[in-house]
Amino acid sequence: MSALRAETVLDVEHWTENLFSFKTTRSPSFRFDSGQFVMIGLEIDGKPLLRAYSMAGSAYDDTLSFFSIKVANGPLTSKLQNIKAGDPILVGAKPTGTLVLDNVKPGRNLYLLSTGTGLAPFLSIIRDPRAYERFAKVVLVHGCRFASELTYGRQHVEEINDDPLVGEMAANQLIYYPAVTREPFTHRGRITQLINSGRLTSDIGLPPLDSAFDRAMLCGSPAMIGDLRTLLTARGFNEGASHTPGEFVIEKAFVEK
Ligand code: A2P
Repeated sequence: MSALRAETVLDVEHWTENLFSFKTTRSPSFRFDSGQFVMIGLEIDGKPLLRAYSMAGSAYDDTLSFFSIKVANGPLTSKLQNIKAGDPILVGAKPTGTLVLDNVKPGRNLYLLSTGTGLAPFLSIIRDPRAYERFAKVVLVHGCRFASELTYGRQHVEEINDDPLVGEMAANQLIYYPAVTREPFTHRGRITQLINSGRLTSDIGLPPLDSAFDRAMLCGSPAMIGDLRTLLTARGFNEGASHTPGEFVIEKAFVEK
C-alpha cells in the first residue's frame, strides 16, 4: 500500500439521508489529474480502513473535496458519515484512474455520463480548462433516483460561473443535464433510455451521438456502466485506457463495500 497522509476534515455537508460531501486539507505535494481517485479512510481499531474516492474538486483547489454515500452497515461510510470539522482523515499519496482527459481522443463534444456518486470525478473535469480547450461542448449528465440527490452537483454547476479559471468558458460550453428516474422531473428516465430515444441530444440541441465526433466518460454503478458500454460500442465507440486513448472511458463509481 502506498503511503498515507493524515489530513484534517474542514467541512461536512449532508445532502440527503444517503449522501454527504466533505472537504479536507490538501498537502501541497498532493497532485492529481482531474477525474482521478485516491484511497481515503479512517483509522479503525488501530488499522487504516480505506476506500477509493474520486476527487470532486478542481486540481487547482487548495483543499480536497469528496462526495460519498452513507451505508448504515458499510464498514467505512457508517463511520465516515459522522466526521466533523477538525477530525483527522487518511488520504493516500498516489491518485490514479482512467477518467482523465488524455485517455479520450480529440473530438467535438465531450459527454460526462454519471449516476449517483459517479458524478464526483466529473465535478473535477468541468473545472479543468483543458476540457473546454479540447471540446466545443462539455455535457454533464447526472442521473439519480430522486431530484434531491442532484443538489450537490447542481450547486457546483451554478458556482462554476464564478470560477476565475473556467467560468467564462463554462458559461459558453458547459451543458448540465440532470435526470431523475423515480419521481416526476423535467428530464425523466435512465441515461440509457434518454440516449437511445434521442431525447438527451434533442433536449440540448446537439446532433445524435456519433463516434466520429463525440467522446464520452462514464462513471456509475456496474449495471449502468455495462449498459452504457454496450450502447456506445454498438454505435462504434471504442473504449480507451491509459496510454491508449479511445472514444470513451469508464470507471465504476466507488460504491461502498
Ligand atoms: P432506476 O431508478 O431506474 O434504477 P442507483 O442508486 O441504483 O445506482 O441508481 C442511480 C440512478 O442510476 C437511478 O436513476 C437508476 O435508475 C439509474 N440506473 C440504475 N441502473 C442503471 C442502468 N443499468 N443504466 C442506466 N441507469 C441506471
